[in-house]
Formats: sequence, structure tokens, C-alpha cells
Amino acid sequence: MHRARIAALLLLLSSAAFCFLFWYLFGNSAARPDEFMEGVVRDERGPLAGAMVRYQTTQTSVHSEADGRFRLPRADKQPAHVTAWQDGYLIGGASVEQAPLVITLQRLPTEDNEAYRWVGSDPNPRNGQNCGNCHEAIYREWSASGHARSAHNRRFLNLYDGTDWQGRSGHGWNLLAEHPDGAGVCTACHAPAVASGDPAYFDLRKLSGTAAQGVHCDYCHKIADVENVQFGLTHGRFALKLLRPARGQLFFGPLDDVDRGEDVFAPIYRQSRYCASCHEGTVFGVQVYSTYSEWLQSPARSQGKQCQGCHIAPTGKLANLAPAHGGLPRDPNTLADHRFFAGSQLAMLQNSLKLNVHCVAGDKETKAEVVLEADQVGHRLPTGFVDRNLVLVVDAWDRAGKALLPGTSSPRLPDLAGKSQSGHAGKLFAKQLCDFDGREPAPFWRAQPDFKDTRLKPGQPERSTFTFAGRAERVQVRLLYRRFWPSVADEKGWQDNELTVADKLLDVASAEVPGP
Ligand code: HEC
Ligand code: HEC
Ligand code: HEC
Ligand code: HEC
Ligand code: HEC
Repeated sequence: MHRARIAALLLLLSSAAFCFLFWYLFGNSAARPDEFMEGVVRDERGPLAGAMVRYQTTQTSVHSEADGRFRLPRADKQPAHVTAWQDGYLIGGASVEQAPLVITLQRLPTEDNEAYRWVGSDPNPRNGQNCGNCHEAIYREWSASGHARSAHNRRFLNLYDGTDWQGRSGHGWNLLAEHPDGAGVCTACHAPAVASGDPAYFDLRKLSGTAAQGVHCDYCHKIADVENVQFGLTHGRFALKLLRPARGQLFFGPLDDVDRGEDVFAPIYRQSRYCASCHEGTVFGVQVYSTYSEWLQSPARSQGKQCQGCHIAPTGKLANLAPAHGGLPRDPNTLADHRFFAGSQLAMLQNSLKLNVHCVAGDKETKAEVVLEADQVGHRLPTGFVDRNLVLVVDAWDRAGKALLPGTSSPRLPDLAGKSQSGHAGKLFAKQLCDFDGREPAPFWRAQPDFKDTRLKPGQPERSTFTFAGRAERVQVRLLYRRFWPSVADEKGWQDNELTVADKLLDVASAEVPGP
């Protein structure tokens, strides 16, 4: 009885709700045409179909119809400005007060202006246009990134001209001496804004002006599109289609609702293809950079995750792109982080590497089973510059504190892993280049095109069993990341070449009890 009454009541309530919903959706809007904001998008010739029309800074958008008309639903808190964008045009807009509401879009220039003068990234009151004057937070992020140093990075220049950290010449690898014809090859990616006639093109030590800022704001935001080329063979600037204005300004970016008469939406800004021509490179016949092609084969890509999703993901702190300089309040979860390494490289390495160790100690032998997996990463690990290397080092000590020797079947580290690690139980994850006489490591400009590649693949655990002669009481497992080969870093006098990603000390006695 009681149950039947509740059921009847529920039925009554739900039919009332349904009637209300029906009235709200159909009856209501048909009766009140002012539920919609109507307008037209056009260019100088006539109506434009398929334009993206949006209430500025909101998620509410529609496309214009075949006759250029659009209808945006009115809201309680009515946004004041409507913007529109269509492929081949600048973003345009109009106030909702305007009647009739007509948005006329301006066409993009058809030609890139090679005589354009690059605008500096740094804040400078004498050059009002400099990006850092208005985009302070983004400027700080970019300054901390490798992109800001790509043309004057000291380690890069030490390899370029054979100097060491102190600037003394004749120390170690030397591109200019060993492969002088190759000097201009680096420019396409490391200093993409250098003019082709500039003598600095073939000697990056001579760089000056804004081009010396490497991969800078104005360069990246003049990229209108990416050419359809084979990535790896066409490097950096040669695959990037720039559109530099002859008059005024033009900024390409990921937002389709910036209405200042100089901004252009380009979907490529949120796609991996944008990064591809600089992050994939076969140089002098050697596949020095392969991050983009690794991404193509990664689980991240099949889940639809682009480079930007991990490397420029919003910090959630930036709520205005240009505070007090015309920037609008925006959703912080939509604005990019220009450091390119969320937090730090160490934090990203630690988040993406899973290390599991399981030890079994017997009287004659101790076994350490190690499982290492790269996860939440969009490419192999390490990736990027060809000399990056990751080393797993396993050490064991007995009760008296004496180091135990690795068993004969145990994987050991080669000399390449560095003097202090050579011969230890462990594994090396790296591209291992050698020269034509079989010597390693070799710089990529003197290397054989075929090389051993033992780097981790995302989502594929690497299992290894290390053995030691005797019963161990303590086992230490370390994971070290190096920017360059230790022997090269020593020769050049480079400090902080190494990051300790993990360091586990296991008390074997209290861990797994061995079998009889
Ligand atoms: C390596 C190329 C690159 C460099 C250098 C670069 N940007 Fe960007 N920028 C991007 C990309 C890619 C996006 C889109 C990110 C996204 O939305 O996923 C972006 C987005 C933006 C946006 C739109 C809002 C946002 O945060 O998404 C602004 C504004 C911007 N950048 C300004 C700058 C300024 C100022 C500098 C220099 C201080 C700079 N950029 C340096 C590539 C670059
Ligand atoms: C015009 C070429 C160019 C483009 C486009 C470009 N990069 Fe780079 N990137 C470089 C160069 C050169 C370096 C190395 C700088 C150095 O360490 O000297 C670099 C370094 C990096 C680093 C290491 C950063 C650090 O702080 O050490 C990351 C991560 C990165 N890029 C990601 C990206 C992503 C993601 C994109 C696309 C949104 C992108 N890059 C687009 C040229 C480019
Ligand atoms: C006088 C201040 C000022 C200067 C200087 C300036 N910007 Fe901006 N920029 C803005 C404002 C304001 C916006 C729009 C912000 C908004 O709508 O929230 C903007 C928007 C942008 C966008 C977004 C475009 C889009 O559609 O995604 C990019 C990219 C950008 N700026 C890059 C640059 C670069 C690169 C420089 C230096 C060459 C620069 N800006 C210099 C004020 C400035
Ligand atoms: C699923 C997240 C994810 C995606 C997608 C992703 N990355 Fe990464 N990336 C990482 C993590 C985590 C690291 C740090 C660990 C490492 O060095 O591999 C990293 C490191 C890097 C480095 C530094 C390597 C070094 O040691 O100097 C570069 C350069 C880089 N990524 C570029 C890219 C480019 C270009 C793309 C797109 C083609 C991309 N990444 C896609 C997560 C990602
Ligand atoms: C196809 C584009 C491209 C070309 C060509 C290129 N580089 Fe790079 N280079 C990059 C990118 C992208 C990175 C960043 C990768 C990373 O952070 O792991 C980089 C990083 C480096 C680094 C590491 C810097 C550091 O401090 O960690 C060195 C050194 C270097 N490049 C030297 C050179 C030299 C020398 C040449 C010319 C012979 C050259 N590169 C040509 C794209 C390129």
C-alpha cells in the first residue's frame, strides 16, 4: 500500500517535470524570439558560411549558416561581445549592443613579408611592442625554458666550437673543426629567426639582435601553418609556414576569440605537428632527434594526447594573458604554461618512471628483480637530444658492509655509462652512437648511421634480474638521468650533468624470506 502510493507520487512528479521541460524547450523559445542573439558574418564581398561565432571568453559557440546568419542563445549574464573567425581571415567581433549585429572579417595577407623586423621577447619600456611588456607571466615561463636558450646555450656552443665551460678552446668534441660544412645545419631549429643572408647563419657565435633569442615568442607566433613535408628530412624553419605582416601586426595562436584586429586562430597550435619539424631530425644521415616519430607510435597518441597536452598544460594559475594591458579575464584551465616542463624536468621524469624491486637473498646468491616502466610519457625515454641517457645501477652489500660482485649472468654497465658506474650491475637506456672506427661515444656529426637503441618504450615494462655472489643485507637501486655522456661532460667541465630520478635502499634481511 505504502509503496504503491510512493510510485504514484513519483509518476505524477515525473510527468509534471516532463511537461515543464517540453514547454521550456519548444513552447517557450517559439513564443519568445529574444531567446537568441541573431547576426551575420561576412567579408567585403558577402556572407560567410561556417565561421566560428562565440561569446568572447566563453564556451558558447555556433557556426554561421550558408547565408552567413548565426543565432546564439541569450544568457542570464549576457556576455557583451561576440567574435567570429573563419579560415583565411583575422578574428573579428562586435558588441552585442550593435544593431543589426554584423561582423565583417578581414582577409589575411597572401604573402609572407621577409623584410619584417622581429619584435623582442623581453620587457623593455623603450620598445612598447616587446611581448614581455604585456605578457609578463608567459615571458617568465618562456625565459626558464630551453627554447629561450636554444641559440646561446653554453653547452651547445661548447660542442659547436670545441671550447669547454671555462671558454678554453681545444677541449673535446668540436663541430666547426670536425664537420665545418655542417655549421649551418643547426640554425634551422636552434636559431630559426636568423635571416638567410646573415653571416651568423653559418656561425651561430656571431648571432645578435632578436634572432639571438632562439626559439622566441614572435617566431613561434608567426607560424601560420606547417608544410606537408617528411618530418626529419625537412628541418625546423623549412617546414614552417610563416606569415609576417607588411603593416601592423599579426599573431597566430590557439584562441579564436581575441578581437584586437591583429589576431588569428590556427588549430595547429594544439597539435603535435606544430612541434614536429624541430623535434624530428635526421642530421648528417643519423636519426639524432626522433621524438615526433616516437610519439606517432605511442599509446599517448592513440589516446589523442598531443605534445601540448603534457608540455604546455595549463598551470591553472594564469587567469589573464595581459593584465592591465587589455587582457580579459579567462578560464585559467585554458591558458598554456610556456615552461614546457610542467614543474621541472626532474618532476616529469619521476612522474613518468615506475620502478619496482624485489629481492631474494640466499647463502650463495642474492637476486634482485627489477621492473622499470615509462608511463604517462608520449615518446621513448629518454627522448630529445641524441646523447641523453638513463642508467639503472644496482649495488649490493653483505652484513660486513662489503660490496658483493655481480654474478656472471647479471647484466652489467658498459664503459659508456661512465667511469664510476662501468662494471656495476645495471642497464643503460640510450641511443649508442659510435664512429666509423667503432669508438663510442661519438658525436652525431661523426657517427655511423646505424646504432644500438635501448631506450624505454612507453607502456612496455623492462624486466631484469641482477644476481650477486653471496648473501646481501642491503641492496641499492638507483636511476640516473644524464643530459650528456659522462666522459663528454668531464672533458667539457660541465657540472650538474646528472639527475637522480630514484634511489632505493632495501633492507634485504627484513624483505622477502628466501625458500629452503
Ligand atoms: C615553441 C613555440 C612557442 C614559443 C617560443 C612561445 N609560444 Fe606562445 N604558444 C605556443 C603554443 C603551441 C601555444 C598553444 C598552447 C595550447 O593552447 O595548447 C601558445 C599559446 C600562447 C598564447 C595564447 C594563450 C595561451 O596561453 O594558450 C599566448 C598569448 C602566447 N602563447 C604568447 C607567447 C609569448 C608572449 C611568448 C614569449 C614570451 C610565447 N608565447 C612563446 C607556442 C609558443
Ligand atoms: C622552431 C623549432 C622548435 C619548435 C617549433 C618547437 N621546439 Fe621545442 N625545442 C627546440 C630546440 C632547438 C630546443 C633545444 C633548446 C636547447 O636546449 O638548446 C627545444 C627544447 C624543447 C624542450 C626541452 C625544454 C627544456 O627546457 O630543456 C621541450 C620539452 C620542447 N622543446 C617541447 C616542444 C613542444 C611541445 C613543441 C610544440 C608545441 C615545441 N617544442 C616546438 C626547437 C623547437
Ligand atoms: C601592448 C600589450 C601587448 C604586447 C606588447 C603584446 N601583446 Fe599579445 N596580446 C595582448 C592582449 C591584450 C591580448 C588579448 C588577450 C585576451 O584577449 O585575453 C594578446 C593576445 C596574444 C595572443 C593570442 C592570439 C590568439 O588568437 O590565440 C598571442 C599569440 C600573442 N598575444 C602573442 C604576442 C607576442 C608574440 C608578442 C610580442 C611579439 C605580443 N603578443 C605582444 C597584449 C599584448
Ligand atoms: C603523455 C605525455 C607526453 C606527451 C604526449 C609528450 N611528452 Fe615529451 N615528455 C613527457 C615527460 C613525462 C617527459 C620527461 C621524461 C623524459 O625525459 O622522457 C618528457 C620529455 C620530453 C623532452 C625532453 C627530453 C630530454 O631529456 O631532454 C622533449 C624534448 C619532449 N618531451 C618533447 C615532446 C614532443 C615534441 C612531444 C610531441 C611529439 C611530446 N614530448 C609528447 C611527457 C609527454
Ligand atoms: C631538426 C631540428 C634540429 C637540428 C637540425 C639541430 N638540432 Fe639540436 N636540438 C633540437 C631540439 C628539438 C633539441 C632539444 C631536445 C631536448 O631537449 O632533448 C636540441 C638539443 C640540442 C642539444 C642539447 C642542449 C642541452 O643543453 O641539453 C645540443 C648540444 C644540440 N641540440 C646540438 C645541435 C647541433 C650542434 C646541431 C647542428 C649540427 C643541431 N643541434 C641541429 C633540434 C635540432
